[in-house]
Order: sequence, then C-alpha cells, then structure tokens
Amino acid sequence: MAGISTFYRVSVICVSVLCVFGTPCPVLECWFVQEKPGGGFPAAMTQEKSLMYVSTDPVEDGREVGAGRMPPADINPSRIYHVSDPSATLCSSSLQAPAGAVKKPQCEINPFLPQPARVQWAAPLTSSAHSPIYLQADWFSAALLGLDGQLVMSSVMRSPTATNTPSVVLSVVSRTATVRSRLGVPAVLDCGFWTDPSSPLTGSGFAVEWRYQFRGEGRLLLAYDGKNDRYAETSEEGAELNFTALHQTGNASLMLEETKVRDSGTYICTVYLPYVLAQVALDLEIEEPPSLSISPAPLPMLYTGQAITVQCDASGFAPLTLKLHWEFVGADGKVQHLGEGGMSGHRQASDGTFSQSSWLDLDTSRMDLGRGGELSCVALHSAGTRRVSSTLSIVGVNGPSIEDSMAMVAVALGLYGIIKVVSWAFGSSGSADGSQDMKDK
Ligand SMILES: *[C@@H]1O[C@H](CO)[C@@H](O)[C@H](O)[C@H]1NC(C)=O
Ligand SMILES: *[C@@H]1O[C@H](CO)[C@@H](O)[C@H](O)[C@H]1NC(C)=O
Repeated sequence: MAGISTFYRVSVICVSVLCVFGTPCPVLECWFVQEKPGGGFPAAMTQEKSLMYVSTDPVEDGREVGAGRMPPADINPSRIYHVSDPSATLCSSSLQAPAGAVKKPQCEINPFLPQPARVQWAAPLTSSAHSPIYLQADWFSAALLGLDGQLVMSSVMRSPTATNTPSVVLSVVSRTATVRSRLGVPAVLDCGFWTDPSSPLTGSGFAVEWRYQFRGEGRLLLAYDGKNDRYAETSEEGAELNFTALHQTGNASLMLEETKVRDSGTYICTVYLPYVLAQVALDLEIEEPPSLSISPAPLPMLYTGQAITVQCDASGFAPLTLKLHWEFVGADGKVQHLGEGGMSGHRQASDGTFSQSSWLDLDTSRMDLGRGGELSCVALHSAGTRRVSSTLSIVGVNGPSIEDSMAMVAVALGLYGIIKVVSWAFGSSGSADGSQDMKDK
C-alpha cells in the first residue's frame, strides 16, 4: 500500500514537474521548527514534520504549486508548502533522494522575521524609515544539506499571509560545505546567492559578509557594501572577493591567497538584502602530511648482538593527529611490524605545523633481523600516508650463519682452485725453464 502510494506520488511529480516545467524538483521532507508559543527560557522548541513541493515556476500569489497531490497522512496540512524557486536551487540533484532511500537530504524550516540589518555595512540598504507593506506576509527560512554532504543552502521565502505558497526571495548556496586544502596554496570557499528580481527588496543593493569562527571565537574577515560597491571592512590579508563575479553571477566565493594552518575553521557567508539575510557555513580544513626522516642516516652496519636506537622525525604536518609505526622487511621479503616505538611529545613551529618523533630500539640479539633488510617508518595522517625507508645491514661475528659458512666454503674452494691453477702454471713454466737451464749447463 505504501509502495503504491509512493509510486503514485512519484509519477504525479513526473507528470506535473518533469513533463510540464522541464526541471525535476524534489519533494523535500523537512522539519518545521519554531519556538513554543508562550516562550520560556531557554526557549522550548517544537518540531513538526513538513513537506515542500518545489516548482521552478514563478507563481502568482495564492496559486498552489502541485495542487491536487495526495499529502501523506502523518503531516499536518498546514505544514505542507508549495514553494516556487525560479533559481531551481532547491531542485539540485543532491537534494533528491532516490526512491526508497533511507538517507535523505536534511531540511529545516523556521519562521523568519524580516528586520533592518544591524551591521553597519548592510544598514544603508534599509535607510528608509518605513518598512514596505511587502514585508507583511508569512516569512520562512529553510536550511538544507544535500545528500553529498557538500551542498549547503539557506533560503528566505515569502508567502502571502496564510497561503502556504512561499516564493524564494533570497538563496545562499555553497557547493563545498567542507573544503580540504594543503598548506600554502590558494583556496576558494564557494558561496553564491540568488535574489528574486521581481521582489521589491532587490534592486537597492546587497551586502556580503564573511566571518571566521573557531572554537567559539569569531572574527570578521571582510564585508562588502554592494550599495556603494566597495569593501566596508577588510580585516584579513589575502582574503578577497571577485566584485565582477559578485555582480554578474552572484558569486560571493571567498578567495584565500595562501592557506595557513590557522585558517582551519568555520567560515560563514552571509548575504544581506534590505530586511532579510541568509547565510551558510563552510568548514575549511588545512591538511598537510608530514615530512619524514630516519636517523642516523645512513644507518651504520651492525654486528649481530649489537643494539642501536633509531629515530624517525615527522615534521611540518597539520592537524596534529598522527600515528607513527615501524616496519622491517627482511632480505627474504618477510614483513615484521615493530610497533610504534617510543613517541615524543609534539612541538609546534611558528607556521603552526607540528612535529613529533619516535624512537625504536633495534637489538639484533633479541630481534630476528637476519642479515638486515629495509627499515621503514610509516606515518598515518589525514592528509595521507607517508613512508621513509633506510637499509639496515647486519654482519655476523658470533659464529657464522649457515649462509656465511657456505659462502666461506665457496670462497675457500675458489681460492684453492685459483692457487692450484696459478701454481700449476708457474710450476710447469718453472720446470721448463729449469730443463732449459739444465740443458745449457
Ligand atoms: C572574476 O570573475 C570574472 C567573471 O566571472 C572572471 O572573468 C575573472 O577572471 C575573475 N577574476 C579573478 C581575479 O578571478
Ligand atoms: C565562483 O568563483 C570561484 C572563484 O573564482 C570559482 O572557483 C567558482 O567556480 C565560481 N562559482 C560559480 C558557481 O561559478
């Protein structure tokens, strides 16, 4: 029964959306979250199941998008919304769960209260003392996270009072919710926005702001005053917007000239229109793998029974979490795992990168290292696995091994043969000379 109704729903979506408007748009399952009426502190929240039918068609006020579809019984009809999103941002493929999938895109809807911006770079947008009548409507904001975990968006929507037919007025989107970057390279934190050109809130400019947050501490990186087309604030060196792209395509991506370890953290892209704002948060993780070295280099030749402590230094890595271990590959190809050795504490360089060392006691009398092989130090790090190897040679003194004995026998036999040949050659010529001498005498 459930299967049939799902199928019915899917085919209706195809008929009314795919086949009529050309863009397949998902039906988004959301939580409608709001403060419990009556308040209290901390504010108690209520959460109700909600559904958004999305169309890319601009709707006339009051017309229902996708009207006539059968709503699921467990959803309050007053929490079913017929959303018009001409930008088609809500129709992104990463917001469309395959039929029957357990994992769904995340979606939360909240009531939204339009109000003049308090930040100084957005204040000029609402210089008029009277708020337009346009604001008297039901306003919502929707925050979504795509199935790929990389699409994040936030939309502000306006619905004529009590119609449940909101139209998107402002959308802010990032396609890179998590950015991993190496150290010392340029990085782009993707952020774009779309505004409804037919809304009275557009046309009088916008403002963009990027903030940085890490462990509860925040700072402003830059603020762009779109009304005057200039930065209102630039507190961060090497962080820029492309003004041309900002105006042409709503591309508000933050470009970092050169990543530093201290750039790791959360970045918040906020776009302001008069009275409304929307924002998305992105994480930047600077990940740099360690450089490894083994010392002493090269390893000295060891005699059987001798012990030595070798050291592996890992440096220049970030973030801090690192696992080091040792491996030994004998001449016979057998791999031995020698554990992590004794780990040092970590040190932090002035560029923010870390270093850490491991010591390994190689005791040839206790360990089965044969006549030597390849000693490796292996580092497991989020930026990748790194390995460094060094050749270890062990020679026997406390009684030769079987191989040594056989080699000695071979050498002895060889030497014996050479001596034999040489002495024969010299011996015979000597005797020839001797006979000559004897003849001459
Ligand atoms: C800025 O954006 C425009 C339009 O997208 C592009 O042509 C130009 O190369 C960009 N400039 C920089 C410095 O990235
Ligand atoms: C926005 O600009 C950045 C930096 O130039 C670029 O990497 C990104 O692809 C652009 N985004 C879009 C949607 O064009």
